[in-house]
Amino acid sequence: MASRLAALGMLPYKNRVALAWLHPNGYIAASAELSRADLRMGPHVFIGERVVVYRQGNTAPVELGEGVELHHECMIEAFEGGTVSIGSRTTIQARCNFAAAGASISIGSGVQIAQLCGFYSFDHGFMPNQPIYQQPITTKGPITIEDDVWLGFNVIVLSGVRIGQGAVIGAGSVVTRDIPSKAIAAGVPARVLRMR
Ligand SMILES: CC(C)(COP(=O)(O)OP(=O)(O)OC[C@H]1O[C@@H](n2cnc3c(N)ncnc32)[C@H](O)[C@@H]1OP(=O)(O)O)[C@@H](O)C(=O)NCCC(=O)NCCS
Repeated sequence: MASRLAALGMLPYKNRVALAWLHPNGYIAASAELSRADLRMGPHVFIGERVVVYRQGNTAPVELGEGVELHHECMIEAFEGGTVSIGSRTTIQARCNFAAAGASISIGSGVQIAQLCGFYSFDHGFMPNQPIYQQPITTKGPITIEDDVWLGFNVIVLSGVRIGQGAVIGAGSVVTRDIPSKAIAAGVPARVLRMR
């Protein structure tokens, strides 16, 4: 109810980010699906329409730093011991997915993530002798995105990958290996094109 009242008369979408800066409690759209128990939030966090935050069992709460923006229909899932943390002033555009299981997903500060990016810190087991749905999940390790990284539209980051501070990843890339700090990388799989 408070979110609906606050947004009355406001223009839609990113115009509402300003509301998050009116009070340390930030702004959570009424259509977002989340529970306070699943979240540890810094001040002035913006959570847009139909964002979902889901945590299963006793996995650690999802952490969002000061001024984080999670836009339309982003989805964060943490289960089977996976955790998700997002550093201050990081902006995540619409429809990004973060799924952490077996290993963490850790996003630094001031990171720019364009629409439709995906982060998966696990794989399903796929040994040949058993149906995939019966197999335990596997992981190559945590995903770490360091400060000041920019990920273009529709980038996918797989488990065990670290993207170094200030790196740029081109639109449509699939990042399967570490990318050094200040590199500009792109492609499937992502390769370094040059350094900034
Ligand atoms: C990665 C990027 C920043 C590089 O820009 P740039 O430095 O100007 O690069 P160039 O256009 O000079 O391209 C250099 C080479 O990389 C290739 N390349 C560039 N972007 C690529 C991409 N996303 N995927 C695959 N290859 C790519 C080019 O084809 C070119 O290859 P060539 O040398 O064989 O011709 C840019 O191409 C990009 O992908 N931007 C993302 C845009 C976006 O998603 N915006 C969302 C708003 S947040």
